[in-house]
Amino acid sequence: MEAIENIFTRKSVRNFKNIPVEKDKIRKILSAGMSGPSCVNARDWSFLVITNKEKLSKMADANGRYARHLKKAAFGILVCGDLERAYSEAEDYWVIDGAIAAQNMILCAHALGIGSVWLGTWPQMDRVKNQAELFSLPDHIVPHSVIAFGYPEEEKPEEDRDLYEEDRVHFEEW
Ligand SMILES: Cc1cc2nc3c(=O)[nH]c(=O)nc-3n(C[C@H](O)[C@H](O)[C@H](O)COP(=O)(O)O)c2cc1C
Repeated sequence: MEAIENIFTRKSVRNFKNIPVEKDKIRKILSAGMSGPSCVNARDWSFLVITNKEKLSKMADANGRYARHLKKAAFGILVCGDLERAYSEAEDYWVIDGAIAAQNMILCAHALGIGSVWLGTWPQMDRVKNQAELFSLPDHIVPHSVIAFGYPEEEKPEEDRDLYEEDRVHFEEW
Protein backbone atom coordinates (compact mmCIF):
# COMPACT_ATOMS: atom_id res chain seq x y z
CA MET A 1 0.00 0.00 0.00
CA GLU A 2 1.32 3.42 -0.91
CA ALA A 3 2.01 5.71 2.03
CA ILE A 4 -0.43 8.35 0.83
CA GLU A 5 -3.24 5.84 0.29
CA ASN A 6 -2.46 4.36 3.71
CA ILE A 7 -2.80 7.71 5.49
CA PHE A 8 -6.00 8.69 3.70
CA THR A 9 -7.84 5.38 4.14
CA ARG A 10 -7.04 4.74 7.82
CA LYS A 11 -9.96 4.81 10.24
CA SER A 12 -10.27 3.60 13.81
CA VAL A 13 -11.51 0.00 14.00
CA ARG A 14 -13.36 -1.05 17.16
CA ASN A 15 -14.82 -4.45 16.18
CA PHE A 16 -12.49 -7.33 15.53
CA LYS A 17 -12.73 -10.89 14.21
CA ASN A 18 -12.02 -13.57 16.79
CA ILE A 19 -8.83 -14.70 15.08
CA PRO A 20 -5.21 -14.15 16.07
CA VAL A 21 -2.73 -11.94 14.24
CA GLU A 22 0.38 -13.71 12.99
CA LYS A 23 3.57 -13.24 15.05
CA ASP A 24 5.57 -11.89 12.12
CA LYS A 25 2.95 -9.21 11.57
CA ILE A 26 3.05 -8.21 15.25
CA ARG A 27 6.83 -7.93 14.96
CA LYS A 28 6.52 -5.77 11.82
CA ILE A 29 4.10 -3.46 13.64
CA LEU A 30 6.50 -3.13 16.58
CA SER A 31 9.36 -2.48 14.20
CA ALA A 32 7.32 0.33 12.61
CA GLY A 33 6.84 1.80 16.08
CA MET A 34 10.60 1.81 16.52
CA SER A 35 11.20 3.39 13.12
CA GLY A 36 9.86 6.87 13.80
CA PRO A 37 11.84 9.94 14.78
CA SER A 38 12.55 10.56 18.47
CA CYS A 39 14.05 13.57 20.18
CA VAL A 40 17.90 13.34 20.07
CA ASN A 41 17.28 9.79 18.84
CA ALA A 42 16.59 8.83 22.47
CA ARG A 43 14.25 5.99 21.39
CA ASP A 44 12.69 6.49 24.80
CA TRP A 45 9.82 4.00 24.53
CA SER A 46 9.03 0.40 25.45
CA PHE A 47 6.13 -1.77 24.33
CA LEU A 48 4.16 -4.35 26.26
CA VAL A 49 2.33 -6.76 23.93
CA ILE A 50 -0.69 -8.62 25.30
CA THR A 51 -2.52 -11.43 23.49
CA ASN A 52 -3.93 -13.31 26.52
CA LYS A 53 -7.71 -12.67 26.64
CA GLU A 54 -7.85 -12.44 30.42
CA LYS A 55 -5.03 -9.90 30.49
CA LEU A 56 -6.62 -7.96 27.61
CA SER A 57 -9.81 -7.71 29.61
CA LYS A 58 -7.95 -6.36 32.66
CA MET A 59 -6.00 -3.97 30.44
CA ALA A 60 -9.29 -2.68 29.02
CA ASP A 61 -10.78 -2.18 32.49
CA ALA A 62 -7.64 -0.35 33.63
CA ASN A 63 -8.22 2.21 30.86
CA GLY A 64 -11.90 2.88 31.59
CA ARG A 65 -15.11 2.29 29.64
CA TYR A 66 -13.98 3.84 26.38
CA ALA A 67 -11.39 1.05 26.08
CA ARG A 68 -13.91 -1.80 26.14
CA HIS A 69 -13.21 -2.66 22.49
CA LEU A 70 -9.85 -4.00 23.62
CA LYS A 71 -11.60 -7.02 25.13
CA LYS A 72 -12.35 -8.33 21.62
CA ALA A 73 -8.97 -7.44 20.12
CA ALA A 74 -6.46 -10.01 18.91
CA PHE A 75 -3.77 -8.16 20.80
CA GLY A 76 -3.10 -4.91 22.57
CA ILE A 77 0.06 -2.88 22.89
CA LEU A 78 0.77 -0.67 25.87
CA VAL A 79 3.07 2.02 24.53
CA CYS A 80 5.25 3.26 27.37
CA GLY A 81 7.79 6.02 27.81
CA ASP A 82 11.17 5.07 29.25
CA LEU A 83 12.22 8.00 31.43
CA GLU A 84 15.73 6.61 31.89
CA ARG A 85 16.27 7.08 28.15
CA ALA A 86 14.44 10.43 27.80
CA TYR A 87 16.37 13.57 26.81
CA SER A 88 17.62 14.92 30.15
CA GLU A 89 17.31 18.62 29.14
CA ALA A 90 13.66 18.30 28.10
CA GLU A 91 12.30 15.02 29.40
CA ASP A 92 8.73 15.70 28.25
CA TYR A 93 9.65 14.96 24.66
CA TRP A 94 9.03 11.33 25.65
CA VAL A 95 5.31 12.02 25.19
CA ILE A 96 5.81 13.10 21.58
CA ASP A 97 8.11 10.17 20.87
CA GLY A 98 5.50 7.77 22.25
CA ALA A 99 2.77 9.32 20.09
CA ILE A 100 4.89 8.98 16.95
CA ALA A 101 5.55 5.33 17.74
CA ALA A 102 1.84 4.73 18.30
CA GLN A 103 0.81 6.32 15.01
CA ASN A 104 3.52 4.47 13.09
CA MET A 105 2.22 1.16 14.44
CA ILE A 106 -1.38 2.06 13.55
CA LEU A 107 -0.41 2.94 9.97
CA CYS A 108 1.74 -0.19 9.58
CA ALA A 109 -1.12 -2.35 10.87
CA HIS A 110 -3.49 -0.71 8.38
CA ALA A 111 -1.08 -1.52 5.53
CA LEU A 112 -1.12 -5.16 6.69
CA GLY A 113 -4.95 -5.28 6.70
CA ILE A 114 -5.10 -5.09 10.49
CA GLY A 115 -7.44 -2.60 12.14
CA SER A 116 -6.68 -0.69 15.31
CA VAL A 117 -7.87 1.97 17.68
CA TRP A 118 -5.81 4.23 19.91
CA LEU A 119 -7.06 4.22 23.50
CA GLY A 120 -5.86 7.30 25.33
CA THR A 121 -4.00 6.72 28.58
CA TRP A 122 -1.46 9.48 29.41
CA PRO A 123 -2.14 12.18 30.72
CA GLN A 124 -5.19 10.68 32.47
CA MET A 125 -3.23 9.72 35.55
CA ASP A 126 -5.81 7.28 36.93
CA ARG A 127 -5.37 5.21 33.74
CA VAL A 128 -1.60 5.59 33.86
CA LYS A 129 -1.56 4.37 37.47
CA ASN A 130 -3.94 1.47 36.74
CA GLN A 131 -1.85 0.19 33.81
CA ALA A 132 1.40 0.57 35.75
CA GLU A 133 -0.02 -1.37 38.68
CA LEU A 134 -1.65 -4.04 36.54
CA PHE A 135 1.61 -4.88 34.81
CA SER A 136 3.95 -4.10 37.75
CA LEU A 137 5.93 -1.66 35.63
CA PRO A 138 9.23 -0.29 36.94
CA ASP A 139 9.02 3.36 38.10
CA HIS A 140 10.81 4.76 35.03
CA ILE A 141 8.38 3.08 32.59
CA VAL A 142 5.30 5.29 32.11
CA PRO A 143 2.15 4.11 30.26
CA HIS A 144 1.49 6.42 27.30
CA SER A 145 -1.32 4.80 25.32
CA VAL A 146 -3.01 1.51 24.63
CA ILE A 147 -3.68 0.35 21.09
CA ALA A 148 -6.16 -2.44 20.30
CA PHE A 149 -5.36 -4.44 17.14
CA GLY A 150 -7.13 -7.16 15.18
CA TYR A 151 -8.57 -8.13 11.84
CA PRO A 152 -11.59 -5.87 11.24
CA GLU A 153 -15.02 -7.44 11.73
CA GLU A 154 -16.47 -5.60 8.76
CA GLU A 155 -14.63 -5.58 5.51
CA LYS A 156 -15.80 -2.23 4.22
CA PRO A 157 -14.42 -0.94 0.97
CA GLU A 158 -11.78 1.60 1.83
CA GLU A 159 -12.42 5.06 0.54
CA ASP A 160 -10.06 7.97 0.59
CA ARG A 161 -11.15 10.62 3.05
CA ASP A 162 -10.31 14.25 2.51
CA LEU A 163 -10.58 15.90 5.90
CA TYR A 164 -8.91 19.11 4.79
CA GLU A 165 -10.27 22.25 6.48
CA GLU A 166 -9.43 25.48 4.76
CA ASP A 167 -9.82 27.64 7.87
CA ARG A 168 -7.22 25.66 9.85
CA VAL A 169 -4.40 26.69 7.58
CA HIS A 170 -2.57 29.97 7.28
CA PHE A 171 -0.07 30.66 4.55
CA GLU A 172 2.76 33.13 5.02
CA GLU A 173 0.93 35.06 7.78
CA TRP A 174 -1.87 34.47 10.38
C1 LIG B 1 -4.99 10.44 22.08
C2 LIG B 1 -6.15 9.63 21.58
C3 LIG B 1 -6.99 9.02 22.47
C4 LIG B 1 -8.07 8.22 22.03
N1 LIG B 1 -8.82 7.54 22.93
C5 LIG B 1 -9.82 6.75 22.50
C6 LIG B 1 -10.57 5.95 23.41
O1 LIG B 1 -10.33 5.95 24.63
N2 LIG B 1 -11.55 5.14 22.92
C7 LIG B 1 -11.84 5.10 21.58
O2 LIG B 1 -12.75 4.34 21.21
N3 LIG B 1 -11.15 5.85 20.68
C8 LIG B 1 -10.15 6.65 21.10
N4 LIG B 1 -9.40 7.38 20.19
C9 LIG B 1 -9.73 7.31 18.76
C10 LIG B 1 -10.47 8.59 18.30
O3 LIG B 1 -11.77 8.60 18.85
C11 LIG B 1 -10.50 8.64 16.76
O4 LIG B 1 -9.19 8.64 16.28
C12 LIG B 1 -11.25 9.86 16.24
O5 LIG B 1 -12.61 9.82 16.60
C13 LIG B 1 -11.15 10.00 14.73
O6 LIG B 1 -11.64 8.85 14.09
P1 LIG B 1 -10.73 8.02 13.08
O7 LIG B 1 -9.54 7.49 13.88
O8 LIG B 1 -11.61 6.93 12.58
O9 LIG B 1 -10.25 8.95 12.02
C14 LIG B 1 -8.33 8.14 20.63
C15 LIG B 1 -7.47 8.78 19.73
C16 LIG B 1 -6.39 9.50 20.19
C17 LIG B 1 -5.43 10.13 19.19
